[in-house]
Amino acid sequence: MKVTAATAAIVATAVVVLAAVCAASPTAAASPADGQWWQTGIVYQIYPRSFLDACSPNCTGTGSLRGIERKLQYLRDTVGVNAIWISPIYESPMADFGYDISNYTAIWPTFGTMEDFDNLIAAAKKLGIHVLMDFVPNHTSNQHPWFLASRSNKTNPYRDWYVWRQGRIGKDSEKLPPNNWRTIFCPDANCYGWTYDNATDEWYYHCFLTQQPDLNWTNPDVVSAMHDVLRFWLRKGVDGFRVDAFPNILEDPQFRDEPLNPNWHGDPVTQGYEKLIHIYTENQPGLHDIVRGMRKVVQEFGDDKALIGEIYPDNVITEEDVISFYGTEEEPEFSMPFNMNLISFFDYAAAFDPTVHNNPRNASRLREIVDHYNASLPAWAQPNFVLGNHDVRRLASRLNDTALTRVANTLLFTLRGTPTMYNGDEFGQKDGYVPPGRRQDPNCKTNYTGLRCRDPERTPLQWDTSNANAGFSGAGVETWLPVSSDYVHTNAAAQMGDPTSMLDLVSRVIALRTREHALHSGLYQSLDVVVTPAHLTDNVFAFLRYNESNTAYVVVANLADHPVRVQVIPPFDVIQRSVAHIDTFNSSVVNSTVNLSFLHLHRAHAQVVAVRYHNESTKNTTVGVVVAALLGTVFMVAVVAVYCKFGRAKDTGYAYTAVPDVIDER
Ligand code: GLC
Repeated sequence: MKVTAATAAIVATAVVVLAAVCAASPTAAASPADGQWWQTGIVYQIYPRSFLDACSPNCTGTGSLRGIERKLQYLRDTVGVNAIWISPIYESPMADFGYDISNYTAIWPTFGTMEDFDNLIAAAKKLGIHVLMDFVPNHTSNQHPWFLASRSNKTNPYRDWYVWRQGRIGKDSEKLPPNNWRTIFCPDANCYGWTYDNATDEWYYHCFLTQQPDLNWTNPDVVSAMHDVLRFWLRKGVDGFRVDAFPNILEDPQFRDEPLNPNWHGDPVTQGYEKLIHIYTENQPGLHDIVRGMRKVVQEFGDDKALIGEIYPDNVITEEDVISFYGTEEEPEFSMPFNMNLISFFDYAAAFDPTVHNNPRNASRLREIVDHYNASLPAWAQPNFVLGNHDVRRLASRLNDTALTRVANTLLFTLRGTPTMYNGDEFGQKDGYVPPGRRQDPNCKTNYTGLRCRDPERTPLQWDTSNANAGFSGAGVETWLPVSSDYVHTNAAAQMGDPTSMLDLVSRVIALRTREHALHSGLYQSLDVVVTPAHLTDNVFAFLRYNESNTAYVVVANLADHPVRVQVIPPFDVIQRSVAHIDTFNSSVVNSTVNLSFLHLHRAHAQVVAVRYHNESTKNTTVGVVVAALLGTVFMVAVVAVYCKFGRAKDTGYAYTAVPDVIDER
């Protein structure tokens, strides 16, 4: 074919117009190479007290290390995860269920022995499951020998391992704490973050319970002792740590009072901590050095170890602050600070406070949150998402809508970033009810419906219907928290092999993610949609996961309580084929061809669609082919350009003329 100058000019102009109007093609950027296990895989959080009582050597009503070992196969083969994070298993008086540690290098006897632990690690390794421990650096138990020595007298060498201060004297000569700092776990309306110690007439600071005195991380002896704790477990073969309560590790060296929160209202106990703005007890300068120090220790054992920080953003800690704890490429800090955005979007407060404004159906807001997070991360940093943990109401209870819970789980495993899931969420376990006499968490004892009460999300896992303990423990054994009566309806065994179940959905999405490079390591781009009826536009979230190949995944999620019809605006020219791989409404839809320009979604319904499309590399085999293709499609290019310019505007230029079909709600 002969190429004239005029034709070439037309082609060039058309291409420029197309490029300018249609923004960047997703094929332009190269996808990241496959990463480490914690980048391509999935982390499953085990709350050991509630996971499985192996009844070996005998039943205790509390979960055990042997119980975890027994379920490793299930975790790998049924759920499909490659990493577990185990909440604390160390020796502890259990005032905060293991987050109050009295010996960092011993196992709490009810969980088992060190030999059980070694066996667990060996078994996990055999199955290719990585193990993350929970590292609790902010505080010890008040029964830890370090603290017992510290409180024994002011001159004890351990005195300075904790945060001791002299108190103030009140108007009526009463003893008052050194300043106004509060505890996150208020026992009463005073909410003192300090406890008075008679023997030495001083107060010690505790950000959490009075049984959890804060360590003094400005003391180098503390730092090196805690580094040795990391080394102890790394030597045993663990693959990394989740670092507990990280922003609270340092306090203002001047011990200044914190300012009152002008927006504070609410219950003085359950919301007591929020009365102040924590500018002197959270996110203090020096934290970056601390995490760098931990990172160095972890790296002594290899570059594949992971360090994940627990950091919730609040009115002191911004999202940028959270992200700053990735460090720099030259000097990395956390492998990932947890990203709690999805927890707050699928809002836990709303589950038990009807006055909290919450809209977990607001997909435009979700798009904003995810886009902002993605855009804020340095290119080398690994994003991550979390939907639940042992401190917040279970996802299924927060949403109280099975269809929407299925959508949320699908998002967790298709967004760009390492997903972390909470045990039991894979089969949609709900919060249990814990009657007054059986409440365990001190926060539940002060206020069961309060924000900080955590027994409901910690009731034992519902494995099967073999006994009234849902297979969690032996028949007739009193479990540490009661097994929810819902186990009859919701349990893992009943869901296995049932294609309509949550467990089946979760394992299929995970399998797809694990198999597909575009999903576990590809890039992310949110997509525009045209929704009918138009007023539900803000309820639909669509995004693309892609790499350098010409197969990508489009995820379309309708969070609305109503059915919609969606036209997805993909950022590439020609779709050759779109096949639904996951359908949260109907698992049998899988592998059917769908039309992304005309997608019917039920209420709370998502699809994950594999899309094969033309891209630069397939067109670009030779210049001759490119020119021929362009000449042949010059007309189409112009049409696409016009379409992109006018068809993209959401409310104008594109509308279904027909009245939308009534979508069959089964
Ligand atoms: C973290 C843990 C929580 C614990 C607290 C004190 O937030 O997740 O369960 O109570 O730290 O260690």
